[in-house]
Amino acid sequence: MGKTKPVKKVLGIDIGGASIKAAIVDLHRGALLSPVQVRPTPRPATPSLTWETIIDIVHTFGWNRAIGCGFPGVIRNGRVCSAANLHPEWIDYPITEAFTKLSRASVAVLNDADAAGLAEMQFGAGRSLYRRREGLALIFTLGTGIGSALFYRGVLIPNLELGHLELAGKEAEKYAAAVVRVKENLGWKAWGNRVDEYLAAIEKIISPDLIIIGGGVSASWEKFAPYLHPRSPVVPAQLKNDAGIIGAALGLTIPEFTMTRRGNP
Ligand code: BGC
Repeated sequence: MGKTKPVKKVLGIDIGGASIKAAIVDLHRGALLSPVQVRPTPRPATPSLTWETIIDIVHTFGWNRAIGCGFPGVIRNGRVCSAANLHPEWIDYPITEAFTKLSRASVAVLNDADAAGLAEMQFGAGRSLYRRREGLALIFTLGTGIGSALFYRGVLIPNLELGHLELAGKEAEKYAAAVVRVKENLGWKAWGNRVDEYLAAIEKIISPDLIIIGGGVSASWEKFAPYLHPRSPVVPAQLKNDAGIIGAALGLTIPEFTMTRRGNP
């Protein structure tokens, strides 16, 4: 990964299990500078079909500058290492390099929950800890899967995969992700209790100073928050659905995730 020039306007792309969202982001204010473009994630979500959608989005913006992208799986050295909710053909795909071919500027690709976490830490619910470079903050995104991101004194510890812990005899994200509430037609109480069980399992192994819960459900916080009883303070994400896009763009501030057009991963 190469050293990057400071950039201000970035196209942030958030690849999710259900949809791909993108907007132009002001990196310094952590704010959107354009309306959000949304496309359904193609099915099957193979690299070639997903890539067609991404190219379409980039062309819609007429964009040939820096791009930051959040991906729902582990990303190491510019390659996809896991993709639980997309097609297995993604494994080992050199995603960062593929993006540099689309863009004439720097590109960053990082895990989607790490991206949302960066945004929440710098501009949302975690900003007070972030500004003081204090504490241990744990961010969850509840959507098609369960994403997790950990920050110690403001520094991201990347690719934490707490959604795949075992809970009630299955993978936690198959039991407590937001999509499970809809699929199994659970009420807010039944689902909130599952999320609470999940947090209890997490707190057996980690003791954060703050837990932030994001994903689309953060907009329905009042409906399930009464059922959550973790030891640590728990708050909703503040940037709601935009955290993934803003955080994808913020990936460009981290050299390990970033590749310049001439650089090598
Ligand atoms: C993936 C994570 C991702 C999460 C949310 C999980 O299935 O393993 O990498 O962050 O879904 O998209």
